[in-house]
Amino acid sequence: MLNWDEFHEDEATVAEQPAKAAPAPAAKPQPAAAPSDEVKESNGSYQVADSDRLARARKSLEELDVAAGLEELEMGAARIEVSDKQMINARADLNQLVPFKYEWAWQKYLDGSANHWMPQEVNMNADIALWKSQDGLTEDERRIVERSLGYFSTADSLVANNLVLAVYRLITNPECRQYLLRQAFEEAIHTHAYQYCVESLGMDEGEVFNMYREVPSVAAKSAWSLKHTQSLARSDFNTGTPEDDQELLRNLVAFYCVTEGIFFYCGFSQILSMGRRNKMTGVAEQFQYILRDESMHLNFGVDMINQIKIENPHLWTPEFQDEVTQMILEGTELEIAYARDTMPRGVLGMNAAIMEEYLHFICNRRLAQIGLKEQFPGAQNPFPWMSEIIDLRKEKNFFETRVTEYQVGGALSWD
Ligand SMILES: [Fe+2]
Ligand SMILES: [Fe+2]
Repeated sequence: MLNWDEFHEDEATVAEQPAKAAPAPAAKPQPAAAPSDEVKESNGSYQVADSDRLARARKSLEELDVAAGLEELEMGAARIEVSDKQMINARADLNQLVPFKYEWAWQKYLDGSANHWMPQEVNMNADIALWKSQDGLTEDERRIVERSLGYFSTADSLVANNLVLAVYRLITNPECRQYLLRQAFEEAIHTHAYQYCVESLGMDEGEVFNMYREVPSVAAKSAWSLKHTQSLARSDFNTGTPEDDQELLRNLVAFYCVTEGIFFYCGFSQILSMGRRNKMTGVAEQFQYILRDESMHLNFGVDMINQIKIENPHLWTPEFQDEVTQMILEGTELEIAYARDTMPRGVLGMNAAIMEEYLHFICNRRLAQIGLKEQFPGAQNPFPWMSEIIDLRKEKNFFETRVTEYQVGGALSWD
């Protein structure tokens, strides 16, 4: 079990600097590219190309309209320069990770990988005994565990599907795609963790996994997220016009700032409050690991949104800023409704009114992180311990020994 006393950071220290493009490294001397009228044939020799043939080939490729990264190889094309790279609508070859332009994306990929964990490592024995005992938990506490597993068991699948089926192909930068692949795997681990909790506790899995279409306060959040992935997931959707680029930004705000940045916070704080009271400590430990991953997902999303704004300032119109502000306010209202449904009375040292104050504080932070005006001036954080859990400092990495075990356990032996 993680030690609840180990946390010292304040949420105010969360990395939330506006994303800045890493300064382009000094231009390195590039090997001379093949002359434009030559093409390297598969046998390795250069032959004079038929320029009309090349032009026709390029045109037919454009007509194929494949996702960025799947184009046929352009033999002998000029090598990638940092200045060729951009977040959306890039023309640079997406199969080449380097040279890096966005060091923050690569760093988050490294940090996420360093925090690897698996649900089966968490001991659930105390939870199983408590869950099955007659008077171990109050009805209100049981309701919180059930609702949390009900919402999250499908919410992380919604996030994963949005990443893989909608967002990934539209982000035209290989170091960001590298992080998105890491994030997609982490979402799979999170869904696994919820399934593992449900299975360990012997809960009715049909009831838990169907909650997102049977319990109104859960369904309202899931439906709101789904609404924002459907247009991007259409096979004929692409970016390239201001309207379509804004549609991608709406999706990033809906998933990173609202779904992962607001919809997770009532359930997380309820379960972590339970853990602080030495109840359901295994479930709480799973949630704690997930919250650390989610905190990085949120910060990565914020960096992506801010970088897209920097590169495409024409998208961030006053009208669009108003619309995004409204989206974040809508998400906050849905989470407050969820808090009221899950806490009809005070429980675990919290109640719906205190949670509302916390969500106003979280809403302000999400708005500020993407450069928008706070809507609840003066809202305070009533749960400072949540900030401390979220902002685990790197040197307080609980996984250092486990990372080593993974490396040893996964190493090949030639003996
Ligand atoms: Fe997740
Ligand atoms: Fe996530």
